[in-house]
Amino acid sequence: MKLAVSGKGGVGKTLLVSLLSKIFAESGYSVLAIDADPNANLAATLGFPEPEKITPISEMKELIEERTGVQPGKTASFFKLNPKVDDIPEKYALERNGIKLMVMGRMKKGGSGCYCPENALLQALVTHLLLARNEVVILDMEAGIEHLGRATAKAVDKLIIVVEPGRRSVETALRISKLAQDIGLPNIAVVGNKIRSQAEREFLISNLPGFKFLGFIPYDQAIVDADLANLPLLDSSQAIINEVRNIFQALI
Ligand SMILES: Nc1ncnc2c1ncn2[C@@H]1O[C@H](COP(=O)(O)OP(=O)(O)OP(=O)(O)O)[C@@H](O)[C@H]1O
Ligand SMILES: [Mg+2]
Repeated sequence: MKLAVSGKGGVGKTLLVSLLSKIFAESGYSVLAIDADPNANLAATLGFPEPEKITPISEMKELIEERTGVQPGKTASFFKLNPKVDDIPEKYALERNGIKLMVMGRMKKGGSGCYCPENALLQALVTHLLLARNEVVILDMEAGIEHLGRATAKAVDKLIIVVEPGRRSVETALRISKLAQDIGLPNIAVVGNKIRSQAEREFLISNLPGFKFLGFIPYDQAIVDADLANLPLLDSSQAIINEVRNIFQALI
């Protein structure tokens, strides 16, 4: 199963990706979590040690040059569009508690697709991870998914858009959903997060007509307190874990 998780900033994408990764791993699945958000914090949420010391693939200049034939930052009229990537996961993925992790870093953005070596390598790598690996792959993504590329988008089984009760989050969800359809990623579901009341749940349902909701995760102050106290987030709310278990069941 290949899942991509997107949504407005701060809605809870990384928390959902982390908990799903943990639940899949605990249920015996082989899991690869990919941080494809430029503001990478999946490693920290998953409890990897010294997350600030992890170098994202997009910053491995020698690797990018070796594989694409072009130095990052340079534009060139020719570089390898299908760089070799199949050995990269074994060399660069980190592993903890049965979860493998790869941190992609920032993709360059350009109008109609940017032809730079970083993107060529990242797109080839993500597509390889989605297509060739016999694992549950879960991508933590920012709201802008347009640079994903069609080949990568095609390899995603389901795009999960996280929303919180609020207009901006709903507007972002509608925009992501439109982008997703444009790049050939039609299988979309929604998860409501930070839900405090029945009214908030209904707000999301009525403002996202036609969307399939996989679940509604409650707001829990325990997560916020754990964050402030720098304690591990993933075990701090049983209510949230229970609902993500239901989402896991709905997915499998
Ligand atoms: N259900 C919840 N109840 C309370 N707090 C939550 C809940 N879900 C997420 N949070 C808090 O909201 C903040 C944002 O969560 P998270 O980092 O998972 O979001 P994100 O969408 O990945 O953000 P970003 O766009 O910055 O990557 C965190 O401090 C997290 O602890
Ligand atoms: Mg995040």
